[in-house]
Amino acid sequence: MRIDIVTVLPELLRSPFEASIMKRAIDKGLVEVHFHNLRDYTTNKYKSVDDYPYGGGAGMVMMIEPIDKCISQLKSERNYDEIIYMTPDGETLNQGMANAMSLYENIIILCGHYKGVDQRVRDHFITKEISIGDYVLSGGELGAIILSDALIRLIPGVLSDETSALTDSFQDNLLSPPIYTRPADYNGWKVPEVLLSGHAAKIDEWREEKAFEHTKNRRPDLLDR
Ligand code: ADE
Repeated sequence: MRIDIVTVLPELLRSPFEASIMKRAIDKGLVEVHFHNLRDYTTNKYKSVDDYPYGGGAGMVMMIEPIDKCISQLKSERNYDEIIYMTPDGETLNQGMANAMSLYENIIILCGHYKGVDQRVRDHFITKEISIGDYVLSGGELGAIILSDALIRLIPGVLSDETSALTDSFQDNLLSPPIYTRPADYNGWKVPEVLLSGHAAKIDEWREEKAFEHTKNRRPDLLDR
């Protein structure tokens, strides 16, 4: 997979891709991540990427021209499965969307800033709008990192068996059951007996029951999906 992130703040994006799972995926050649600074696509002397909104009102609007130049350049080099705009009024990201998008070959993620982008960008370039939750961030960069992480860890070969994504919360509309590691007894706080039994079928059954209970208590909405 190749991810092209279009941003006014590339420095905000770098470090999460230089550690842990995302770094490993990049090092293994399973994913390529490229940052594109919108200021490099400006034609004005001040390299400004935003301007006042037509009709007045507070805040600045990201201009269409540098975004067009950047995205059109990328599109001339390869085909993209999706051109995504990170915005609080987009479709809320969930595991199902991440699963589907993890199969893509090339995506562009455009990070909004200020009041957002000129509507014509959304009308003519963007194919999908994604939110990471019902709150407003100061820009789309943190959302782009979250989306990238959610996708990259699902790419075959990125996670080892013991960190497999198959048993994650949400993967089957259930939250994960409780987990334990050594010692089996810590100050009298004991690990459930069944997990020490070595009886695989019983353990599976216990985990399923606990996952269901936990989901019912905390996220009953997931059970209705
Ligand atoms: N940009 C600002 N707020 C956002 C959100 N909640 N999700 C995605 N992008 C955003």
